[in-house]
Amino acid sequence: MAKLDGKAALITGAAAGLGEGIATAYAKYGAKMVLVDLDPRVEETAQRLRKEYGSQIITVVANVADRAQMDEAAKKGAGPSAPSTSPAATRASAAWSPLRRWTTPPGISTST
Ligand SMILES: NC(=O)c1ccc[n+]([C@@H]2O[C@H](COP(=O)([O-])OP(=O)(O)OC[C@H]3O[C@@H](n4cnc5c(N)ncnc54)[C@H](O)[C@@H]3O)[C@@H](O)[C@H]2O)c1
Repeated sequence: MAKLDGKAALITGAAAGLGEGIATAYAKYGAKMVLVDLDPRVEETAQRLRKEYGSQIITVVANVADRAQMDEAAKKGAGPSAPSTSPAATRASAAWSPLRRWTTPPGISTST
């Protein structure tokens, strides 16, 4: 079992440079990821990591400075709430739950 099995991470600037390096390390340790970048080539990074590590990755082209775009990216990672009777779907949903919790931190209000 890898160190980050069952964990989900959202990594920004993941198409290149430091973000790509961080995504590679997370892939190596078994995390599921949402990779975000302004540059659509973030999908190429994801394809490489899927091929090398079998990672489960969603890519989102978005600007990290835009709160609404980042909320959307996090929602994509959290996925639909699971109306699930299938054990496989329940397992998949549970595996993404760390990111779902991150999108709605307890005790933090997002209203202005
Ligand atoms: N490389 C270093 O040695 C180093 C050292 C200290 C600090 N930093 C800082 O760390 C950050 C990343 O460095 P890097 O070398 O990986 O940079 P980089 O220029 O390679 O950028 C990494 C990725 O970030 C993406 N990106 C840029 N702006 C974005 C935005 N608004 N929203 C989403 N994605 C965006 C780019 O498209 C690129 O794919 C920079 O702020 C840099 O100044 C870098």
